[in-house]
Amino acid sequence: MKVAIIGGSLLGSIPDFTGIAGQSTQTPYGEPSGICTTARINNIDVCYLNRHGASHRLAPHQINYRANMFMLKTLDVTDIVAVTAVGGITGKMSPMRWVVPDQIIDYSYGREQTYNDADKAAVNHIDFTYPFEDGLRKKLEQAITMSNMACLTQATYGVTQGPRLETIAEIKRMQRDGCDIVGMTAMPEAALARELEMNYATLSLVVNWAAGKGSADSTVGGDQLPEIISMDEIRRRIAEGNEKAEIIIKNVISLFNQ
Ligand code: HPA
Repeated sequence: MKVAIIGGSLLGSIPDFTGIAGQSTQTPYGEPSGICTTARINNIDVCYLNRHGASHRLAPHQINYRANMFMLKTLDVTDIVAVTAVGGITGKMSPMRWVVPDQIIDYSYGREQTYNDADKAAVNHIDFTYPFEDGLRKKLEQAITMSNMACLTQATYGVTQGPRLETIAEIKRMQRDGCDIVGMTAMPEAALARELEMNYATLSLVVNWAAGKGSADSTVGGDQLPEIISMDEIRRRIAEGNEKAEIIIKNVISLFNQ
């Protein structure tokens, strides 16, 4: 049993993780986003990887997801908690809500998204009916509750390409499709984890209302317009969310020993 935490804009590092995992970061799929830091907590080996790189230099579409997930597999990781900051689309998904999504719609493109495309290799289809592993989702839900925070567990995560945020019309379409939250990184991470037979679930924090969903507080010629998305507000919510994310992560790790 070995747990990996993947952080991003949210949970950019975990200060208590001071060890270094592995000798080399090279993989057959190229270079991962960086090295893993490690800690031993409650007799469990835990490692941490920032998918954007230690200095946040990789945009979501530039991340080598295959190298990242391959590296975790070679470190014998069995369970992955992926931490993501997302925008809220549907009513309950308001800023500072914790969400453990249960479904995905993938709108990203041009990303290396499978290990099953090697030349002349037999085609291998994975089941992806439930893209997130249910046992891990339940642990996350329990950990959020233990941390005295509320948790939403029925949510479809729409994955956009980025790095720009979406237009109002794009978010309206995503809502018609059934998306509740929008982010840029759950795919292909979730599918690659499944291909490598690692359990994977996402801990998401809503850091803004998605485009067009913010309260109408500006007026032009008497017409109410939805507000634009403030990056300062997002940064502020991420800073606030970081401390809570660390608590939730410690609690989720404690649940592996039971
Ligand atoms: N859209 C896409 N990704 C995001 C958003 C958003 O509004 N907020 C945080 N990540």
